[in-house]
Amino acid sequence: MAISKKMNEFARSASWIRKMFEEGARLKAEFGVENIYDFSLGNPDLPPPPEFQKTLLQLAEKESPGSHAYMPNSGYPFVREAVAARISSEQGVNISAAEMLMTCGAAGGLNVTLKALLDPGDEVIILAPFFVEYKFYVDNHGGVSKVVSTDNNFELDLEVIAAAVNEKTKAIIINSPNNPTGQIYSEESLAELGRIMAAAAQKYDTTIFLIADEPYRKIVFDDNVVPSIMQAYENSIVVSSYSKDLSLPGERIGYIALHPDIAEKGPLTEAMNLANRILGFVNAPALMQRVVAELQGASVDNSIYTRRREKFCKILADAGYKFMPPKGAFYIFPQSPIADDAEFVGKLQEQKILAVPGRGFGTPGYFRLAFCVEDAVIERSAEAFQRAMASIK
Ligand SMILES: Cc1ncc(COP(=O)(O)O)c(C=O)c1O
Repeated sequence: MAISKKMNEFARSASWIRKMFEEGARLKAEFGVENIYDFSLGNPDLPPPPEFQKTLLQLAEKESPGSHAYMPNSGYPFVREAVAARISSEQGVNISAAEMLMTCGAAGGLNVTLKALLDPGDEVIILAPFFVEYKFYVDNHGGVSKVVSTDNNFELDLEVIAAAVNEKTKAIIINSPNNPTGQIYSEESLAELGRIMAAAAQKYDTTIFLIADEPYRKIVFDDNVVPSIMQAYENSIVVSSYSKDLSLPGERIGYIALHPDIAEKGPLTEAMNLANRILGFVNAPALMQRVVAELQGASVDNSIYTRRREKFCKILADAGYKFMPPKGAFYIFPQSPIADDAEFVGKLQEQKILAVPGRGFGTPGYFRLAFCVEDAVIERSAEAFQRAMASIK
């Protein structure tokens, strides 16, 4: 075979979501879109907030020389300043434009961060269940993923994390609110995580970075809040995007924010700028940078996700599924009622429900449902969930 053996293998191992996508397309063609309950994709269906289009049109009218030119690899200084001001208030730490880098989404930001940090063989701790791309991103830059499970409530298992750290550990990636569980890590557990990492860094005479992947920060339910990671640990890096909170995943706009007290902040920023360039992103999209600079307070209508979450949780509970109601993001991660999650996802499919098996996120025995779909799809799926449960009894 002419293509890379490794990529061929990766493509096969990453096929769960794609398989669902293909199966979904087939089922929709055969039975009609309205008869398929597709909860397989985390692709936000809500429109961006109205300010988005208004700002986009205004800025498109305001062409000036250089509007589409190359710029500093880290992004327009005035954009970084606007984003830094908002993150400073979110994180309770004073971040300046110099500590910011605009990126092609959170995915671009994570790759830039890992490229800047990793030497071959460096270990990165990732927590299962995890966003499936993390393993590939770590591998992209020569790192080795060390997968550590969260506890039964999908909270940080601090003892297991502490035991996983060694002299090769360069970073840990956490994602809260979490895809796929909807968990938000508590302030106390983050503070303890910070202490564990600081102690380990001292023990091994090294620097260990805490990378917080936060694209769902603004999508939270009830009175949950996402605690500041920068208050918990000095060597922390926030990576995020506007993909979910402004519903702009196709526009590829995100950012990296560095804790202002990172000791090697200067060389790290330089390495990140170069990484943004040589990974081929060069800089984040110019027009989108100018748009988001003006939309720092804006967000999609969270009441819609809140409403869907209520409906979905009730349907699942009534049908006898066991799950933790998500605190944030737009996913539910119920237990598979039979041991084999892939088999149960097959049972769901027989009822025209599309879900992703937990093993696709490193945690067999569960399945993921994404509720970024119209309310009517959730409502209509109720009986199908009951039938799937009845089919295994
Ligand atoms: C946990 C997590 N991190 C990162 C990303 C990538 O986000 P972006 O589209 O901003 O690159 C996603 C997208 O689904 C995600 O769920």
